[in-house]
Amino acid sequence: MSDLLQTDRQHIWHPYTQHATEQAPVVITHARGASLVSDDGQEILDLISSWWTCVHGHAHPELNAALTKQAGLMEHVMFGGFTHAPAIRLAEGLSAILPGNLSRVFYSDNGSTAVEVAIKLAYQYWRNRGEEKRTSFLAFEGAYHGDTLGAMSLGHSCGFFNLFEGLMCEVRALPFAATFEGDEAVEEVEAEALSAIDGILAEHGQKTAALIVEPLMQGAIGMRLCRPAFLKAVVERAHAAGLLVIFDEVATGFGRTGKMFALDHIGFEPDLVCLSKGLTSGYMPLAATVAREDIFQEFLGEDFEKALPHGHTFTANPLACAVALRSLELFGEEKTLERVAHITGRHEMALTALKDHKRVSRPRRLGTLLAFDLAGSGDGYKSDESLQLRDWYLAHGLNIRPLGPSVYLMPPYCISESELDRAYDGLLDGLSALDG
Ligand SMILES: Cc1ncc(COP(=O)(O)O)c(C=O)c1O
Repeated sequence: MSDLLQTDRQHIWHPYTQHATEQAPVVITHARGASLVSDDGQEILDLISSWWTCVHGHAHPELNAALTKQAGLMEHVMFGGFTHAPAIRLAEGLSAILPGNLSRVFYSDNGSTAVEVAIKLAYQYWRNRGEEKRTSFLAFEGAYHGDTLGAMSLGHSCGFFNLFEGLMCEVRALPFAATFEGDEAVEEVEAEALSAIDGILAEHGQKTAALIVEPLMQGAIGMRLCRPAFLKAVVERAHAAGLLVIFDEVATGFGRTGKMFALDHIGFEPDLVCLSKGLTSGYMPLAATVAREDIFQEFLGEDFEKALPHGHTFTANPLACAVALRSLELFGEEKTLERVAHITGRHEMALTALKDHKRVSRPRRLGTLLAFDLAGSGDGYKSDESLQLRDWYLAHGLNIRPLGPSVYLMPPYCISESELDRAYDGLLDGLSALDG
């Protein structure tokens, strides 16, 4: 083991890691385009975009330049009582690509804090309006919205946080009508879910502050997809019952689903949108909770009472905002969504080839996501076979980390044709090796 790894073993506490059993991590020295390079020179295709962040590719020269330029001007300034061009221009840019009145941007540092801010905004919004009974939340069964306390509460039904139930706020889970290619039961499942949702809204709607959704794609639970029409029916029902609707686009934003935002598939204007991950193309920790202007107006008043008592030291960090702004510009300059459409088409062909494999069940895809469940494997999140598969892929230069039995690809958009071929071939070879 290298000196560096010895020191890692001595001093680092990695996320979601059982240090007593987990093998040593891979030391990455640099990254370019769709690839990571390890300290022993192995090139690893980053097929899950480093936890879904890296949209334009690693070490993009334009993003590097934007970061360097901003570092030469100002690395940070407190955001209370001060402001700066990168934050202002980015807020303007986000407002321009989000629908309708979604035009007030509150910055924070990561997906969880973006959600935490949305929860507090929704809760306080009703208090500011004198509707103090609206205190609880609705979320989909199996949802994941982050690891901080409020975000965990929203995702309590995903089962990752059972240990922390005692710390959570009140959240009810709505049935999620997951579907996949060739799913013949989808209409029946959706109708049942909608009828259950009608019941929950009738009983609890008056006491609920907001519904939060991962639009179209539940990520962490295992890339579960629903149809746009189902989601639209749910969020319209929530609005009709008077709830605020929060779209957590932390994973789906910035082209992942084939459009800039998942909300663009369904023609619905939520009250709040949470963004992070692809916002800086994975360069810097930054998040935004974007509110409709009429929500913001409810926080105005003669004294501080109505204002949002929330902020972080690194709110609107200029380096992060500058790189996010440049990343937004690249979507136009490099016609990124055309590239996304191309990957979508390649995924479609690859799925046709994959779906008859005996180890593939519930094949599905959306934008740059291609996913399936491992047939004949346990459902557990850390099933032996999915760990085996993860290790096989890594040993063969592919960063593919199944989420429980769900195997998926979500590459950076700069991935080349030959790299995509390598990804699809490797995906299949790994499945064959399981039964080897
Ligand atoms: C939909 C969604 N919301 C929130 C989060 C939390 O983001 P972070 O890990 O940056 O706190 C995630 C992370 O995967 C996510 O997928």
